[in-house]
Amino acid sequence: MNKPTSLLVFFAFLIVSPNVLLPILQPPVTAAALPLYTNSRWIVDETGRRVKLACVNWVSHLKPMVAEGLSKQPLDVISKQIVSMGFNCVRLTWAVFMVTNHSLASMTVRHSFQSLGLLDSLAGFQLNNPSLLDLPLIKVFQVVVSNLANNNVMVILDNHVSKAGWCCSKCDGNGFFGDRYFNPDLWLQGLTAMATMFNGTTNVVGMSLRNELRGFNQNTRDWYRYMQKGAETVHAANPDVLVILSGLSFDNDLSFLRKQRVKLTFNGKLVFEVHWYAFTNGNVWESGNPNQVCGGIVNNVMKKAGFLLEQGWPLFVSEFGVDQRGTNVNDNRFLNCFFGVAAELDWDWALWSLVGSYYMKSGVFGVEEVYGMLDYDWSHTRNSSFLQRLSTLQTPFQGPGVSDVRPYKVLFHPSTGLCVQREVLKEETVISLGSCSESEAAWSYTTQKTLELKETYFCLQADDGSLGKPAKLGVFCSDDTSKWEMISDSKMHLSSKLINGSRVCLDIDSNNAVVTNPCKCLSRDHTCDPGSQWFKIIDSTRATGNKHKKSS
Ligand SMILES: *[C@@H]1O[C@H](CO)[C@@H](O)[C@H](O)[C@H]1NC(C)=O
Ligand SMILES: *[C@@H]1O[C@H](CO)[C@@H](O)[C@H](O)[C@H]1NC(C)=O
Ligand SMILES: *[C@@H]1O[C@H](CO)[C@@H](O)[C@H](O)[C@H]1NC(C)=O
Repeated sequence: MNKPTSLLVFFAFLIVSPNVLLPILQPPVTAAALPLYTNSRWIVDETGRRVKLACVNWVSHLKPMVAEGLSKQPLDVISKQIVSMGFNCVRLTWAVFMVTNHSLASMTVRHSFQSLGLLDSLAGFQLNNPSLLDLPLIKVFQVVVSNLANNNVMVILDNHVSKAGWCCSKCDGNGFFGDRYFNPDLWLQGLTAMATMFNGTTNVVGMSLRNELRGFNQNTRDWYRYMQKGAETVHAANPDVLVILSGLSFDNDLSFLRKQRVKLTFNGKLVFEVHWYAFTNGNVWESGNPNQVCGGIVNNVMKKAGFLLEQGWPLFVSEFGVDQRGTNVNDNRFLNCFFGVAAELDWDWALWSLVGSYYMKSGVFGVEEVYGMLDYDWSHTRNSSFLQRLSTLQTPFQGPGVSDVRPYKVLFHPSTGLCVQREVLKEETVISLGSCSESEAAWSYTTQKTLELKETYFCLQADDGSLGKPAKLGVFCSDDTSKWEMISDSKMHLSSKLINGSRVCLDIDSNNAVVTNPCKCLSRDHTCDPGSQWFKIIDSTRATGNKHKKSS
């Protein structure tokens, strides 16, 4: 199942050309002044400026208890890939027993692989990370954190399970306090050990106390009792980290916080986390009408977790992700809806996952992770168009200190990750999709429902001719073709009316030109996909570049 030859091939490739691993999409992010704090719903640095967590999950809690991928690439190469993909942070998972059981903590990587029969992984590890092979597991965990520090990557330590192994099911014994492997005292011991170990390690900015609480024993009384205890325990050992609390029902439900607050002796450090996948709701994205499903599920997510933002707490969406091959309709539809909300609410997040393949998952060797940013060999980005879309969300739209620009709107298009902009092509002005950080993508949305290009007299108009025509800019902005409303159950169609009264929706054509078309999927049809017509009007204070300055 492993492909040992490809390791050698890639190794040769590395020597020849170390720089062509990945395209550099993002300029290096300027390092935040750590530690981090909270200011209402925002996570901020020491200077009070917003730091948006744009993290990727890096799995280190499976049976081998070694950060995945180190049999495929040198540690530093992986860290640099994380940076070049634009992530500023890693949610690094760990198992309680790795720190509380001395014989596990002191086991070497070699021994761990050998005891599981992972001989291909062992050979790959020897090739790529020989200096780590005979170190104890706990030491390798520390080396990973410190290599991420050397690359300016922040780390959130996520206690994923007690007993190492794939997570999560209702009856795996790791789901809730008191379950077979989930002894609360041992858990507290583990948290203390981790927090103490990384006290003073500046790039460790947060600790997720426990992943996806769940199962037959879950209840809110014990949730408050133990989560508050866990939070105090971590804070006592390491006052610098953000303390991150997961909800019930696989971290889909924090609604109980409406009734009762978390009581802690400290403040400015508390963050909540929520998980949201397509499969959280089974197959409904594929079997239902996407507008209805998106509208209904977003409502539900807001009720269960999103309300915390309105209450002034940071909400960290610490797991979401899709099959990046683009072949899963359920996932594809979910993602367009998710990206819309993620841009609008501008929350902090961690993608599942970095992993291209696992040493061993649920007993199977060398399993590919199609939700992973990296490919099977950990050598390239799995899907560069996915990364392109994601990259728009890697920097903040809003929040303290993002810029001193006055708030404006962008018209975000989730299925491309781009925004509606004015573009001048050979002296002709067209409406197209482009970067969300250009002055030509800054709009205001007026009380008359017109969309005006900032600092101009131009408004967005539907061409009142035949359908499929490009949208245009006009100066007489009082007729129906200049009035735009968010319609449909998803509230993601930007719609206006033609003079004859027929409704049209903003859409894109195959060249990414912005056009108007009949609105898609407004009825109950579940076979159609409205993704190309989904937009969000989003608040932004991003500093804008002006790409036309030079030429004009
Ligand atoms: C520690 O881990 C070892 C190896 O898996 C196991 O045999 C032992 O029972 C564990 N000890 C405790 C106290 O759980
Ligand atoms: C954590 O580290 C700080 C210095 O960085 C030290 O003052 C403090 O005593 C340490 N706390 C614990 C519990 O070890
Ligand atoms: C990347 O994702 C897109 C959109 O989902 C899909 O069409 C494309 O085939 C994917 N590319 C690869 C290499 O998987």
